[in-house]
Amino acid sequence: MCGIIARIGQGEAADTLLSGLENLEYRGYDSAGIAVQNGSGVKVHKCSGEVADLKSTLDSRPHGNMGIGHTRWSTHGPPTDENAHPHTDMARNVAVVHNGVIDNYDELRADLQAKGHEFESDTDTEVIPHLIAEYRETIGDTEAAVRRAVETLEGSYAIAAIVDGEERVYAARKGSPLVLGLDDEEWFLASDVPAFLDHTEDVIYLEDGDLVVLDPDAYRITDLAGNPVERPVDTVDWDPEDAGKGEYDHYMLKEIHTQPTALSNAIEGRIDDGDAAFEDLSDGAFADVDTVQFVACGTSYHAAMYGGQLLRTAGVRTEVLRASEYDVTSGPVDENTLVVAVTQSGETADTLDAVREATSRGARSLAVTNVVGSTAAREADDAIYIRAGPEVGVAATKTYSSQAVTLALLTQRIAADIPDATPAADREAMFDALADLPRHVETVLETTDAEALAREYFDSESYFFIGNGFGHSVALEGALKFKEITYEHAEGFASGELKHGPLALVTEESPVFAVYTGGDDEKTKTNAIEAQSRGAPIVAVGPEDHPLVDVADAHLSVPDTHPVWAGLLANVQLQLLSYHAAKLLDRPIDKPRNLAKSVTVE
Ligand code: F6R
Repeated sequence: MCGIIARIGQGEAADTLLSGLENLEYRGYDSAGIAVQNGSGVKVHKCSGEVADLKSTLDSRPHGNMGIGHTRWSTHGPPTDENAHPHTDMARNVAVVHNGVIDNYDELRADLQAKGHEFESDTDTEVIPHLIAEYRETIGDTEAAVRRAVETLEGSYAIAAIVDGEERVYAARKGSPLVLGLDDEEWFLASDVPAFLDHTEDVIYLEDGDLVVLDPDAYRITDLAGNPVERPVDTVDWDPEDAGKGEYDHYMLKEIHTQPTALSNAIEGRIDDGDAAFEDLSDGAFADVDTVQFVACGTSYHAAMYGGQLLRTAGVRTEVLRASEYDVTSGPVDENTLVVAVTQSGETADTLDAVREATSRGARSLAVTNVVGSTAAREADDAIYIRAGPEVGVAATKTYSSQAVTLALLTQRIAADIPDATPAADREAMFDALADLPRHVETVLETTDAEALAREYFDSESYFFIGNGFGHSVALEGALKFKEITYEHAEGFASGELKHGPLALVTEESPVFAVYTGGDDEKTKTNAIEAQSRGAPIVAVGPEDHPLVDVADAHLSVPDTHPVWAGLLANVQLQLLSYHAAKLLDRPIDKPRNLAKSVTVE
């Protein structure tokens, strides 16, 4: 969590830092700050709240061609002005922004206090500028001092530092993302590409152990011992427009509406002669695999459930495991185990930990992610990209759809390689229907009644979502989205589970959204009717032609399609339902309280 940015080059830095931070707010929005250097001292401006709050405290933009910035998701200490970054040393000569967690900060702080350092915040970060200042005194050279400070830190960090009187930015990473952006007249460092996408598409993904020194006209990357390091320059293919809200009120709504394009991108070139094909994965790539473990969190876990069901149906031994529980649920793992990390950001700490544990026990790893150069993509043996484009709204929408589709294709690819597995017999029909999926999503977006239904039910006491098979994972995802952005109580269940306890909560004040896909959904109908007979309004979510529609109180309809894809269309309806309910409740839809998009702590 937390987003950091640094900029050095011609012209003023402050506006670029502030707009870059706005594009990083999906990583946290508890407090924001910038520090700018112009040869007459390091000027720090910071406050609790969002970047907009920070802007409103600035009468004019601080002057300087270089600076650093931060938007925070609190880990150590509440979101106060004092705890906002940048942090400085006592003399305010060194300013630092940090994303990550310093595990040994207690010890470092005590050592520094014993040497006379006084601290102003509760954060782990504040030790870093103090350490740099301390080593500058003893070593006399800033670069060496930064190197030494970084060597002293235990934990994870991406940091950027500026020092009074030096036209230079220092940065380092270990375990937290950091990307270098290269423009003609300016350099950037940031936690993620959207921070500087308006300026350049040429990037270098830095690796753990890299230390970077940016001068106005040159950059240098070294390892911690000071040896030069070469890193390739990549070009990102995200359009700057992808990173803005465009005509929409919220990023979430924009991202729901861009699903047809995202899905077309996810599918493009991945069906070849009736089979699923992935760039970089040769035929037979999975021939040795006997067990597949999907590991993921939150929405990505629900997408993994979708893929897991398909792979099991193809006769492959499959587990779908919550990454945060991997150490206690994983069971035997060996070199014939493929661990598939499903992670939009590629930076989720729980997911990365699960993969590291699996690979340390001999498993082979594959990342399914949206972010090129992310830690998951770099650490896994192979990576497949879902090609959804940047997602800024904290609630995942288009990335879920793109993950589910990519995983569905991957399952057919895996099943084709494993000798005893059986790829879906009707996969030609399935792939034909997949080609129509973007168009069907458009139909849902054009014809949806979700807003009217949200209006009817938005003041209910609780919301239940049920579904069977693919519908189950969609029900879980529907409930997660609903609670996340409306702050209302919402739960998802396998249809058959409703009567084993949750039914006690069902009243006329708790609408039940029953997701069905056109496959074997008898259980969903029976259980929905049981809830209805206890007074709950029932909303059928699925294709037109289904017996549930006749008994339901309302219907969110989706076009007829192959049952494998109907759940994804139902999910679009539920995304819209959550969005409109949250809007009616006046919630901060793109930035729900207490959450951040990229969860880089355990
Ligand atoms: C919910 C949501 C989260 C993420 C989860 C995993 O809308 O976005 O539940 O799905 O934090 O994130 P990634 O996919 O980045 O690993």
